Amino acid sequence: MQLSKIAISLKPSATLKLNELSSKLKSEGKDIIHLGGREPEFDISDYVIKKIEEKIRTKRIKYTPASGIQELKEKVAFYCNDIYQTSIKPDNIVISSGAEQCIYNFLMSTVDPGDEVIILAPYWFSYTEIVSMVYGTSVIVKPKKRLIPDFDEVLSHITSHTKAILINSSNNSTGLVYPNELIEKIIKYCEENNIYVLMDFIYDQLILDNIKIKSPFLYINDIDSSNLVLANRFSKSFAMTGFRIGFSISSEELAKRMIKIQTQMTSYPTELSQIACLRALEEGKDFSIRLIQNPRKKRDILFNELSKIKKIKYIKSQATFYNFIDFSEYEKDSPKLSQLLIKNAGVVTVPGIEFAMKRKKL
Ligand SMILES: Cc1ncc(COP(=O)(O)O)c(C=O)c1O
Repeated sequence: MQLSKIAISLKPSATLKLNELSSKLKSEGKDIIHLGGREPEFDISDYVIKKIEEKIRTKRIKYTPASGIQELKEKVAFYCNDIYQTSIKPDNIVISSGAEQCIYNFLMSTVDPGDEVIILAPYWFSYTEIVSMVYGTSVIVKPKKRLIPDFDEVLSHITSHTKAILINSSNNSTGLVYPNELIEKIIKYCEENNIYVLMDFIYDQLILDNIKIKSPFLYINDIDSSNLVLANRFSKSFAMTGFRIGFSISSEELAKRMIKIQTQMTSYPTELSQIACLRALEEGKDFSIRLIQNPRKKRDILFNELSKIKKIKYIKSQATFYNFIDFSEYEKDSPKLSQLLIKNAGVVTVPGIEFAMKRKKL
């Protein structure tokens, strides 16, 4: 079989692999604690269910505009203007099949072969794979200390080929929130130097501690002349992972390009999912506030237990469902450690190497 270089080189998603392994072990009757999962355990609200049922009963589930249903874009604009203190318009928004497609639309629209995309480690492992799919080059910036990138270190990786910087805060996999000043410096630098910033903000509503995240829109003048792109979604904030709806906010010009890309890839997300998200937005922020309670409780239990284990290092997560623990005093090879944890304790974890972190940086 003659496969493309990309098809051969792409890595499978580590968490999906672990999900499969965990299901397999469970089906064999093993008692498994799956800490590698990445979705809220909550059900979607009865209100949203009722609205989906009503839609189905109309017997009319049809095509939608390529950038998403206008009413949904209006609601997203309203919601974002409220939480991000900005003034975006529905035309700045593209509704996509999950945040991942927003990231793909963005990179496909901006990156030419050979362009460099700076990725701050530890990072969500799909970033590098998507960059490869658009024939770009990933440039990884590792943190010097405490799992938070250093601005000068970021600057030292910028070259004349740098097209974009991907920032994910709150971060998958550390659960840490980057300092506002760092994000401000990066965005302002990129605005001045014509470099795109993709702000992957999918966990912005899953902050577990009393941390005030500033809106990235405060650091730009006007979205339509800006290089800032924000990706967000409904899946985690509203516990709607299976609906696969994300959205991007960008200049209108870039949004038009991303719509073209999307049209040729998936056309648009299904109407039913868009309606479900529209109704979830009607319920508003209170629902997502309720979602924080359980991850916070679990995080606190986890760190209470971890504090009893000698020789491990960690920084307590502040957001998301993720926690990054340094077990290197016990085992330096992280895939091996993960296997040991599954085998000996029935606990599924994701090896640090999947996030470009082989060794401790705490
Ligand atoms: C940091 C980050 N960005 C993007 C995504 C993709 O989101 P979606 O499932 O909405 O495509 C994920 C998924 O877990 C993620 O962790």
